Amino acid sequence: FENSGEASKAVAQEIAALIQSKQKNNQPCILGLATGSSPKGLYAELVRLHKEEGLSFKNVISFNLDEYYPMEPNSINSYVRFMKELLFDHVDILPENAHVPDGLLTKEQIADYCADYEAKIESLGGIDLQILGIGGNGHIGFNESGSLQNSKTRLVALDHITRVAASKDFSGLSNTPRTAITLGVKKIMEAKQVILMAWGEGKSNVIKKSVEDEVTNQIPASFLQEHDNAVFVLDKEASSKLT
Ligand code: F6R
Repeated sequence: FENSGEASKAVAQEIAALIQSKQKNNQPCILGLATGSSPKGLYAELVRLHKEEGLSFKNVISFNLDEYYPMEPNSINSYVRFMKELLFDHVDILPENAHVPDGLLTKEQIADYCADYEAKIESLGGIDLQILGIGGNGHIGFNESGSLQNSKTRLVALDHITRVAASKDFSGLSNTPRTAITLGVKKIMEAKQVILMAWGEGKSNVIKKSVEDEVTNQIPASFLQEHDNAVFVLDKEASSKLT
């Protein structure tokens, strides 16, 4: 796409069409959602479609990819808060249908919680459409370099490069969380459709590696080459290194 605004609108149209086709069949629409800067325009457009064009989210059940750990849900940097402020509070999704990993668990609770998160997704028939961003190191969700293709939902240590990118929001590296809970690669790969969005020159190298170089767990986004229905939605700058 010429720019991220146009691209975000196109992705919003695709999501709206999916939600509506599920509505017609009285089915829930299971969305996998991401945070970060990349989906902000998408969420703004979905809110507009709800407010101005009557798009309803009553049949949407969403599962966010990740949350920092530990993290208070009301903290300014929590992904719970991000999703409420950018999407959930402005559309008619039922609060009990909007899932974001819990950053307040005890260490002992995490394994069971992650297994339950996956079981909930499975009981609904899997994710219909997974939205992704991509880290400068090729991470998807917080599946950092070295994550296995069959990795499960789990507590992970964040890469230094991921923490540096996040540190501007946490006013410094020393305040930036070292760990997070992330949906595993396996559940992402099981989604029926995947849309990865990336904007700007800064993402162009990792986009080239993900799309055109070999599939490697050093660049988890490269696993998507093996997905039957995965699309990278890019602006001009992010796609500038593709041959
Ligand atoms: C966020 C997530 C991350 C981001 C990635 C890109 O839920 O899972 O993988 O998508 O770090 O972040 P931005 O969009 O801020 O460049």
